[in-house]
Amino acid sequence: MKIAMIGAGYVGLTTSAGLAVLGHSVICHDSDKQRIARLNAGEIPIYEPGLAEVVAAERRHGRLVFSDDVAEAVGDADAIFLAVGTPSAPDGSIDLSFIDAAALTIAPSLKPGAVVVVKSTVVVGTSRRVNGLIARKRGKPDVSVASNPEFLREGSAVKDFLEPERIVIGTDDVRSRAVLDEIYRSMAEEVPIVATTTRNAELIKYAANAFLALKIGFINDVARLCEEADGDVEAVARGIGLDSRIGSSFLAAGPGFGGSCFPKDTRAFTATGRRCGAPQPLVEALLAGNEWRKTELARRVVTEARLAPGMTVAVLGLAFKAETDDVRESPALTLVEVLQQAGLSVRVHDPRAMEAARPVLAGVEWCATPFAAAHKADAVVVMTEWQEYRSLDLKRLARAMNGAMLFDYRNLFPSEAVTAAGLHHVSLGRPVRRPAAVQRMFGGRAADLKAVAAPASKG
Ligand code: NAD
Ligand code: UGA
Repeated sequence: MKIAMIGAGYVGLTTSAGLAVLGHSVICHDSDKQRIARLNAGEIPIYEPGLAEVVAAERRHGRLVFSDDVAEAVGDADAIFLAVGTPSAPDGSIDLSFIDAAALTIAPSLKPGAVVVVKSTVVVGTSRRVNGLIARKRGKPDVSVASNPEFLREGSAVKDFLEPERIVIGTDDVRSRAVLDEIYRSMAEEVPIVATTTRNAELIKYAANAFLALKIGFINDVARLCEEADGDVEAVARGIGLDSRIGSSFLAAGPGFGGSCFPKDTRAFTATGRRCGAPQPLVEALLAGNEWRKTELARRVVTEARLAPGMTVAVLGLAFKAETDDVRESPALTLVEVLQQAGLSVRVHDPRAMEAARPVLAGVEWCATPFAAAHKADAVVVMTEWQEYRSLDLKRLARAMNGAMLFDYRNLFPSEAVTAAGLHHVSLGRPVRRPAAVQRMFGGRAADLKAVAAPASKG
């Protein structure tokens, strides 16, 4: 089948390559001409494991091409996927201006009978509205609009696209159903297909993201309780996750969820609920809780390490999670802002996301290695669960530092290893670990230990 993709971002690029792997002929278009030029030069503008190899292979096979000419891209296509951004509007609702602009741009060039497939995450009713927009622009209702939400995760996008747990196809007419069935025919034996209306497909996407975000928010709250009650959140997560009704994924405590999706999609979900007269109080509370957590964990660095203006903090990890260079709504950005407001100097390192972070972070020192970032730092905070950080030489880190506080906001290190390196370990959802002498003084009770200001220097 001939397919056009509008948007060559995380989703558009991965989906283009994935559809080419399925045997379709794909032309991927982006309004950013530079991006298309880079892609045509064999460069992949984002870091996504495995994507470069698949794109290169599909280009070699001639199944994937990039074009900055929208009419050329869509003119002959049977299906035109829209994978443009759908960011948050200032009031938290969704900004559909990129979707509308893309729909209006492609409308004159579509061939009669073409099916426009909304891949972007959009609020309920959008596909139908886009259908109306295109019909008005063309002066006749001769194309269809379907919804095919995407569930891939950054960092495992290629695998998620090619081995999905389900495919959701939302259609309101037989023609678009037939086209989408044909597109995914080679996967249909292995993968459950949820065929439904466009409205349900749009609701499924938001409900899925909201539910996953709720799981994370829940375990983060449990982590706080564990800290106060001398528990261990990892034991609790394992203990509840083995119940198949709960499931063990998305129960890793962290510094608050970030990224280009959960924050904006949960905001849009609550805005939709309010607009439809069906408020979503659980997700409203989740959003407030997540904001609170990001700020609270940042403040905790300042208070627990007893940092004063002019002191230095090293932040390891800027990406919102490992295996991506995406820093959109990354909790690390909130941390840096709070630290700078407290008058601290901030040194940052990330194995992949420094380039993406440069335009959004001012006044920090960019460091080539974690040890360079930790050099004479009064505290180190680990914000992203990069493999490279998991195997960090903690003794070397300790030697580089001036202070002795290691804030491990991804629970990467065993406490014993951190304390053996001579550092104070502040991890999430575990009792606060102090050197043995301090623990003996207070009988090891987390609440008491926290009441004691930790010494800011080694020893
Ligand atoms: P992105 O910002 O990485 O990419 C969007 C691309 O669209 C950009 O390259 C931009 O230049 C291009 N674009 C914008 N307007 C255009 C137009 N009129 N014509 C052609 N190109 C245009 O965004 P993304 O992360 O790929 O997300 C896209 C959509 O997919 C969003 O709705 C998002 O919520 C959803 N989604 C994202 C993910 C993810 O992991 N990133 C997963 C599932 C769903
Ligand atoms: C998420 C969903 O997982 C995808 O299914 C969905 O397609 C996508 O949003 C989207 O709609 O765009 P993604 O944002 O790439 O994917 O990343 P996740 O792996 O879901 O992580 C989101 C955030 O939650 C990250 O900040 C991550 O660190 C955090 N997280 C995740 C935790 O704190 N704990 C966990 O157990 C899991």
